Amino acid sequence: MKIGILTSGGDAPGINATIRGVGKTAINHYDMEVIGILNGFTGLLEKDFVSLSDKSLSGILNLGGTILGTTREKTFRKLVSSPDEKDRQQIKNAYHELGLDCLVCIGGNGTQRTSWMLSEIGLNVIGVPKTIDNDVYGTDVTFGFDSAVSIATEAIDRLHSTASSHRRVMVIELMGHHAGWITLYAGMAGGADIILLPELGYNMKVVIEKINQRMEAGKAYSIVAVAEGIEVPGKERPALYFARKIEEVTGFETRETVLGYIQRGGSPTSYDRNLGTLLGGHAADLIYERKFGRMVSKIDNKITDVALKDVAGKLRLVSPDTPLVLQGQRMGISFGI
Ligand code: F6P
Repeated sequence: MKIGILTSGGDAPGINATIRGVGKTAINHYDMEVIGILNGFTGLLEKDFVSLSDKSLSGILNLGGTILGTTREKTFRKLVSSPDEKDRQQIKNAYHELGLDCLVCIGGNGTQRTSWMLSEIGLNVIGVPKTIDNDVYGTDVTFGFDSAVSIATEAIDRLHSTASSHRRVMVIELMGHHAGWITLYAGMAGGADIILLPELGYNMKVVIEKINQRMEAGKAYSIVAVAEGIEVPGKERPALYFARKIEEVTGFETRETVLGYIQRGGSPTSYDRNLGTLLGGHAADLIYERKFGRMVSKIDNKITDVALKDVAGKLRLVSPDTPLVLQGQRMGISFGI
């Protein structure tokens, strides 16, 4: 069998571990031929690829980013969902000209939706969930998340120094798109006093009250972790908005930090490496068994798989009864509600 692997959407630590997991299992265990398609779905259309061997897949386990390159794939998705058969035929032709028996698509929500569309037009596809945001439906966790959370936690740890030395309020904005997972996990692990998530919303009065209460209780500083996806008025970044409002209303010196792409870069944690390795191995198993149209996943601590059609277009978000939210509330951490 011949398989193609591509990576699509934002990069995340652990992608290379996953490419290695799929590729080395396919080559060494199943005797398959493996190619890497360059720069996401664009590379598929352009038939831009490299051959992957056991040797070329060595030495990449701990590398951040993706050795295959990636792109956001809105144009491609338009093509695959086009009512025009000619557009879809263009994709099928590329797949067949590359001689593929299966395409492995490593990516987030958008990619899994595109993967499902490709399987609907008759291609053999396996999806592998990847994102720092941890918001892919149909899996309890995505690789990249653990790495992003450790980077964000370290950043919050470092803010504590300046916050306490200068008696300041420090607001840190973390990534996550529409989901608050990174902010929840890093906020809790980093000891934030207020954690603001898009899924829960916020009441500015509650935020201000919490900061005032802390100051009155002799706690000279506060750390506010805010998710980038939270809605604020106007076009200001959430970190800037909250820092401005808090300083205006409380009079306490307040500073903001937007952590940004630092969260997506660098070496994956051991957890993400092993998760990518296991998911990659399972993707190779599914291909060998010709069980296509599936996304590999981790549910209840087991590596398994789900139908792409059941996950396409859905998001996995934080809910008010997420254990870490409930435990935070029991300890007096404010979620701004
Ligand atoms: O999905 C990962 C992510 O880093 C989000 O947290 C963020 O909103 C988005 O990608 C940024 O995307 P881009 O790389 O297109 O700027």
